Amino acid sequence: MSIALERSAFDDPVLNVINLLNSLSSAHPDAISLASGRPDDELCDPALIYKGLASYARYVNQEEQSLSIRLCQYGKTSGIINEILVEHMRVDEEIVISNVENIVVCMGFQEAATLALLSIFDDGGVLLVPDPVFSGITGIAKLLRVKTVPVPIADFLDSHALSDVVNAIESSGEKVKALYAISDFSNPTADSLSFEGRKALVALARARDFLILEDNAYRYFRYEGARIPLMKSIDSSRVVLMGSFAKSIFPGLRMGYLIGPEDVEVTSLSTKICKAKSVITVNTSALCQAVVGGLLIENDYSLKALNEPKTMSYLKKRNWMISCLEEHFPLNANGQRAIIWNDPEGGFFINVQLPIRFGYSEMQECATQFKVIVFPTSFFSLVGTGINQVRLSFSSATVSDIYLAIGRLKAYIELKMQPLAL
Ligand SMILES: Cc1ncc(COP(=O)(O)O)c(C=O)c1O
Repeated sequence: MSIALERSAFDDPVLNVINLLNSLSSAHPDAISLASGRPDDELCDPALIYKGLASYARYVNQEEQSLSIRLCQYGKTSGIINEILVEHMRVDEEIVISNVENIVVCMGFQEAATLALLSIFDDGGVLLVPDPVFSGITGIAKLLRVKTVPVPIADFLDSHALSDVVNAIESSGEKVKALYAISDFSNPTADSLSFEGRKALVALARARDFLILEDNAYRYFRYEGARIPLMKSIDSSRVVLMGSFAKSIFPGLRMGYLIGPEDVEVTSLSTKICKAKSVITVNTSALCQAVVGGLLIENDYSLKALNEPKTMSYLKKRNWMISCLEEHFPLNANGQRAIIWNDPEGGFFINVQLPIRFGYSEMQECATQFKVIVFPTSFFSLVGTGINQVRLSFSSATVSDIYLAIGRLKAYIELKMQPLAL
């Protein structure tokens, strides 16, 4: 007897994106990769583990607590470095967290987002996401069966258009319960929300009674321009802030956090999230929390300060990638280039519009024949938007590889353009 297997959430392409990103380099070992947004290997320093632990041990001793119990026992579900994160929010963001239990220390952004979606959508509702969007969030939503509505970026940034989307959803009897946004230097399109845009999103969330899930994974990698306040600091009662230490310290720690809405009515969200966490991971690794907490203390609670050397290094790489693009794709007589890229003020990516379609087969062809791996932006879209765009990551490639890679990408584009020119 054969068992008919139903198409399940696990078959959804959005669940392949992260694995694909992680496996492309081993599938094409002789190609240079501009695909992965992983941090620079050179900046992943294991000495930080000992430094952070030693600093945290001093802190615990000062507080006359037992280090052995703090580090070796089962711990509080919400975390053991919540007070340190309160200080980090005060120092870096001027955000006052009145209740430390509003913070839940999580195993990376991914756990924070999983717990948030699980708790907010336990009785249905709709999640709005910009499209294209980081597949970490849409993948979890798919697994948890959270109905997700992708909103083209232009509409997402226009509060009237977004309000129309909410109206359309709600007039069909469904409720928009949350919206996901990366305020600074998004993945994959490297764009940021303006201050006006942030205020408009918060106003809409208030007016239409939904929450904002604000992802700040790349916020502390600003290379120029003035810092824009988080939506969390515009209205804490509407925003669940989700942070990650993957890029700022290193991903091996699997450390992140979420800060629930600061409001009597909705503070219960953090309680709900802790209840879910207590039966999933019980608590986040105390050792990893200690490393993060200790490093923050060492830097006067500032993640921005802790990031400074890394920011300087990525700034050089971003500038270098842009100068390689300028050299390989010079302005023509009409003052135009064969490709168009955005000029992000921070983050790990540059989003590029090509004069050709660039999907899965082009990615494979380019990697196999031209030895450069670039990732199609459309892989992050739920509706196939951005088929002529690629996301270039400058974070993990060396400067010499970046130069070679852009030259190879140019050769591939020229090859594909040839039939058009005939
Ligand atoms: C937008 C975004 N959020 C969060 C993360 C980090 O997640 P985690 O802390 O789970 O590694 C990433 C990593 O690629 C990302 O691009």
